[in-house]
Amino acid sequence: MPRHDQPDHGLDRPASSRIYDFSLGGKDNYSKDRDVAMQAFERLAAARLLPRENRKFMRRAVRHLLDAGVRQFLDIGCGLPGRGNVHEVVHGADPSASVVYVDHDPVAVVHYRALLHAVPNATVLHADARDPGAILDHPDVARLIDFDRPVGVLMISMLDLIPDEDDPHAVVRAFRDRMAPGSHLAVCDFLDENLSEEERAIADELVRQNGVVVTLRPREAIAGYFEGLDLVEPGLVYAPEWRPDRPFDPPSGWLLAGVGVKP
Ligand SMILES: C[S@@+](CC[C@H](N)C(=O)[O-])C[C@H]1O[C@@H](n2cnc3c(N)ncnc32)[C@H](O)[C@@H]1O
Repeated sequence: MPRHDQPDHGLDRPASSRIYDFSLGGKDNYSKDRDVAMQAFERLAAARLLPRENRKFMRRAVRHLLDAGVRQFLDIGCGLPGRGNVHEVVHGADPSASVVYVDHDPVAVVHYRALLHAVPNATVLHADARDPGAILDHPDVARLIDFDRPVGVLMISMLDLIPDEDDPHAVVRAFRDRMAPGSHLAVCDFLDENLSEEERAIADELVRQNGVVVTLRPREAIAGYFEGLDLVEPGLVYAPEWRPDRPFDPPSGWLLAGVGVKP
């Protein structure tokens, strides 16, 4: 299997951040990214639903964390800026709250850097989640995040881009271990249980052809990210079913989402 997201993130090959940007109607993407997204749209009925299910869950989760009193946010695998970014939701509620974005894709980082240059209390870090120490101990993180106080850690459609051999559970554990009581973890991840044989074959083929590996995981593996945390109501559910704030279309069944709080 090819490794996920090639390290150089070259513009001549597709990258998950930019495929996702195109899928959300963004314009910060290139032809290779658009080709992959269009193939997925044409061949997988759920593909058009997923980015919106994901992004809406993210915003509802952030609002929930704000209501719970969280005032510092670490968004790991933030992607490219789009509509309703985390810092916009957060600063809409409290301009003094802090947000650190992290992505290993330099294009995503450059775009956030441009967007945030005049925004106090928010920054972006170019780092790889598979090296949690480089994030947790980074001076920019220390400047904005006090790990002795509750923090909201967002891993939204990011862990499914970390293959099993890179141990996504160890990645999450490293962040969980540093979180103070009252901290929250929000995860949205690809679930492997509702794909037909045909959909699975198409997904595998797209991965083989394009080299952007997404690992669909069983429910128990996704639940494992919340070890030692209490899942807030309604627990781990399809993304649109997590505390909906308006009527929603039938869920794709491909994205499982939840929020856990550290006791
Ligand atoms: C599908 S996008 C999701 C963006 C955003 N979290 C959202 O939900 O709107 C996934 C992002 O995770 C990033 N990513 C994947 N693996 C990563 C890693 N090991 N370290 C940091 N970022 C990573 C990708 O570059 C991409 O921008």
